[in-house]
Amino acid sequence: MLYDERCAIQLNDLRRAGHAVILAIETSCDETAAAVIRDGREIVSNVVATQIPLHARYGGVVPEVASRAHVESINAVVDRALSESGLRLADVDAIAATNGPGLVGALLVGVSTAKALAFAASKPLVAVHHMEAHISAAYLACADLTPPFLCLTVSGGHTALADVTDYGETRVLGRTLDDAAGEAFDKAARVLGLPYPGGPALDLLAENGNPRALALPRAKTPGAYDFSFSGLKTAFIQLDRKGTLASLSKEDAAASYREAVVDMLAAKTRRAADSGGYRTIVVAGGVAANRGLRARMAKDCESRGLRLCIPPVSLCTDNAAMVGSAAYYRIMSGKAVGGLSMNAEPAGY
Ligand code: KG4
Ligand code: ZN
Repeated sequence: MLYDERCAIQLNDLRRAGHAVILAIETSCDETAAAVIRDGREIVSNVVATQIPLHARYGGVVPEVASRAHVESINAVVDRALSESGLRLADVDAIAATNGPGLVGALLVGVSTAKALAFAASKPLVAVHHMEAHISAAYLACADLTPPFLCLTVSGGHTALADVTDYGETRVLGRTLDDAAGEAFDKAARVLGLPYPGGPALDLLAENGNPRALALPRAKTPGAYDFSFSGLKTAFIQLDRKGTLASLSKEDAAASYREAVVDMLAAKTRRAADSGGYRTIVVAGGVAANRGLRARMAKDCESRGLRLCIPPVSLCTDNAAMVGSAAYYRIMSGKAVGGLSMNAEPAGY
C-alpha cells in the first residue's frame, strides 16, 4: 500500500480510538524543538534548542543561519525528546511538524525530518499551522479549558484576536494592519540599544520604570478589533532622534512604550470580550510572556469575572509541545492533513 493511503487509514484509526501519542517538531523560526505529547493535553517530553546566541550578534534572525542551525541540531533534539519520554520512535502513534507560516528554509528542516521519520517508521504525518499551535499551548497549560473562547495571539510575526469556536477552528475578528506586537517590542528595544531578542529585555527594564513618563500615541484603526503599531514605533523613533529619550532613564522609556502596546492590545480584547459574551480569554504566542500584558489581562479578566488562561512562558514562546497538542485535535476532528506531499507553507495569517 502507498504511504499516503496508509497514513489516511492510520489517522482514521487514531480518531476512532480517541488516543494518540504524538512526536512533534517545530522549526519555523529560531528554536529547534521536539516534544512527545499524549492525547493533546499531557507533555511527556519537551525539548527546545534555542538559536538566540547565534543570531544575537546580527541583531535579528538571519534566515540562512537559522536553517543551518536547525539542520545541525534537529536529530539530537528529536533523539532527546524521545529518550526523555522513555519511548522509542516505534511507540509513537503519529509525527507532526509545523509547516507554516514561518521562514521557508527553517520550516523545511522540520517538515523534511518529520517526513523522513514518518516514512521510515510507517507512522502517519500531520501538518500543523504555527498560530493554531500557539493557541493549543493553552490546552496544555489549562487542564479543563475547552472552546469556545476568545484568544489574543501575539507573536513575533502575528497579532490577531480570534473567536476559537472549536479545537483548531478560529474566526479571526481582527489582526494587525502593520507590525506584529513582537516586532513592535523588538524594534523599540533596538532603539533603546537592547540586545536581540529585544522584547524580553524591554519587558524586564519596564518593570522598574514609570509607564507615564512619556506620552505616546495609541492607534485608532478602522476595524473594531484590528491593531496598528507602526505609528507608535515611528513616534518612539522620532523621540529618540529629538533626544527626548536620552533625557529619560531607559526604564522609564521602556515602561512607557510597553504601556502603550499593552493598552492597545487590552482595549481591543476588552471590546471583543464585552461584545462576544465570552467566559474565557486565552493569551497565546511569544508576547504572552510579557509581564505587563499578563498583569493587565489578569486585572481586566478579574474585574469582568472572566476566566483567563495564559500558558507559562516556556509554552508561550516557540516550542513543539504546542504542535503536538494542535496535531492531536486535528486528528480527532478528522481534519489532519499529512502525507508525503506535505510541504513548507511560509506565508499565511
Ligand atoms: O511566538 P514566538 O516565540 O515566535 C514567533 O512565532 O514569532 O514570539 C517571539 C516574539 C519576539 O518578538 C519576542 O521579542 C517576543 O515574542 N517576546 C516578548 C517577550 N518574550 C518574547 N515580547 C515582549 N515581552 C516579552 N517578555
Ligand atoms: Zn511562534
